[in-house]
Amino acid sequence: MPGKADVVVVANRLPVDISVDAKGKLSWDRAPGGLVTALAPVMRARKGAWVGWSGKPDLDVDAFDADGMHLVPVELSATEVEDYYEGFSNGTLWPLYHDVIVNPEFHRAWWNAYDAVNRRFAEAAANAAAKGATVWVHDYQLQLVPALLRKLRPDVTIGWFNHIPFPPVEIFSQLPWRERVLDGLLGADLLGFQRSWDAENFLRSVRRLTSEKVRGSRVTVEARSKLPARETKVGVYPISIDTQSFQELAASEEVGKRALEIRAELGNPDVLLLGVDRLDYTKGIRHRLKIFGELLRDGLVKAPEVCMVQVASPSRERVEQYKTLRDEVEVTVGRINGDYSALGRAPVHYLHQTFPMEEMAALYRAADVMLVTSLRDGMNLVAKEFVAAQVDLDGVLVLSEFTGAADDLPQALVMNPHDIEGAKRVVMRAIEMPKAEKRRRMRALRRRVARDDVAAWADRFFDDLAAAKKEHRD
Ligand code: F6P
Repeated sequence: MPGKADVVVVANRLPVDISVDAKGKLSWDRAPGGLVTALAPVMRARKGAWVGWSGKPDLDVDAFDADGMHLVPVELSATEVEDYYEGFSNGTLWPLYHDVIVNPEFHRAWWNAYDAVNRRFAEAAANAAAKGATVWVHDYQLQLVPALLRKLRPDVTIGWFNHIPFPPVEIFSQLPWRERVLDGLLGADLLGFQRSWDAENFLRSVRRLTSEKVRGSRVTVEARSKLPARETKVGVYPISIDTQSFQELAASEEVGKRALEIRAELGNPDVLLLGVDRLDYTKGIRHRLKIFGELLRDGLVKAPEVCMVQVASPSRERVEQYKTLRDEVEVTVGRINGDYSALGRAPVHYLHQTFPMEEMAALYRAADVMLVTSLRDGMNLVAKEFVAAQVDLDGVLVLSEFTGAADDLPQALVMNPHDIEGAKRVVMRAIEMPKAEKRRRMRALRRRVARDDVAAWADRFFDDLAAAKKEHRD
């Protein structure tokens, strides 16, 4: 029996944090994030449902309404969290799709859990969707959902968007279940990627590893198990942030005051460098520390006149490679501070914590130079948040060319984090940049981020999905 929702979002996580008190009473808070801000108005206007995991193992919660949306929790057992989420999603696919920065592990038990959990998500979406509904599936954790859902509900229109990169076929081919993943994705009417490279990588994989026909950005999918032949379209949709509300937050008096306070707490340095990331090996945090450490060693900058704040928010802490990374980063921070601190004045202020958006906006405003040095990154929304927060036009963005954001923010100082000598020169250029040039670059960046916000991103995807639906019907 079809459900009631005309629009269904399917994502690994629900857009709320659920807590259950000692008496078993359930409460929720809206989880911060651009995706939910962008989708909430559409969901409210069009009877939307959101299918996702609560983020906690073995939490069995019935569907409920929150924030004008119908939320459908998908339960995961503790073993499934280990095998589907920490294992296949974050121990296999995440490193495989990020240039094998660390070795992906291939385990059959992880794959079986991924397959089983994707089926559960597809069934939940099939039950929530009204006849002829539009279903938007998100990200690498749910690549099998489009084809599974199409089998259950051939009447719905299905889109999928990849928030992370899609790897070149030479790397993707390592995956023992590569055909199953491509087959899963080709169940969609529209597949969205962050950069044109990602879309091209996907299409090359389809050409090389399947017998389906690729013409331009369309794949003709042959008839199979009672389903007629159809087309899957592939497009590029760089994601963004809720620019206006972030700008307003950054421009507020409280945030302005807090930014000054932060600088004072740091001893009013001449130059404040800032890094903000989840503690993830894709973010190039060790490269960033190396660059700063060498600038101090070479005497090109002096502490504490030049100092760095590194926010590294805890992430995926039970996955082995994340534990190793934490140790490496913390040893490196300790070494730099050991070598270059004065009493009470350290060159690196390392914060392994998560902060509310207000504090982040104040940090962005307080900083002179933002360092985004990812080794590979689907987009990197921190870069866009930093730009939106520069209401005084006086910050400089240093941005790795291996981020999706590098395509969208060409007025940043773009660098290669593997080229330590080159990167040191770029950071010095950022530190020494004349005020007029800073303002010119930042003004241009801000115009782009204001125009291409997350609402425009979601509208474009939904419009293209509606066009696909029309073709589908015709
Ligand atoms: O797209 C990558 C992503 O899954 C984001 O959606 C999310 O913000 C981030 O990685 C962290 O993911 P999680 O904590 O759910 O593993």
